[in-house]
Amino acid sequence: MSFTGQRYDFRDKAGDYARVAEELTGLLAGESDFVANAANMSALIYDALPDLNWAGFYFLKQGELVVGPFQGKPACVRIAVGKGVCGTAAAERKTIVVRDVHEFPGHIACDAASRSEIVVPLLVGRELLGVLDLDSPKQARFDEGDARGLEKLVAIFLESARLNGAEMKGVNAP
Ligand code: SME
Repeated sequence: MSFTGQRYDFRDKAGDYARVAEELTGLLAGESDFVANAANMSALIYDALPDLNWAGFYFLKQGELVVGPFQGKPACVRIAVGKGVCGTAAAERKTIVVRDVHEFPGHIACDAASRSEIVVPLLVGRELLGVLDLDSPKQARFDEGDARGLEKLVAIFLESARLNGAEMKGVNAP
């Protein structure tokens, strides 16, 4: 396991995401437990990226998104697919960047401080396992550069779980 504890300023967004991706690869190396890796990944993101007030996972369980490992304030536990930013990203199976959550119809406010949000679906082929969700108290905190960078981090996370297919199936277990 390797983790520098470094905070990046993201002025070089692509470069800093590449450095965080290297850290994540080291952090997850040799471990395939889905929940353990999700916990460490949310801690790394929350620590390394500036201006976040929530970073974590929702996993698809019996057709519903259920909160998983995260950093930040306690959050809503269950989100229906199709509802809120998380449910919309899950339903559309694509990354959603919300510049101003007050302008997103149906946004679910877990923390009143949140002003912008990005949600990346966890996809293995066509199978949806859940979503990665990041919130910020700053308006327009996330852009396409964050979308591409976070998608790369999600790919590293999913690759780590693929070391052991049984672990991944366990996520959807009742
Ligand atoms: N805002 C999200 C709900 C999850 S919290 O932000 C942690 C949404 O609209 O789906």
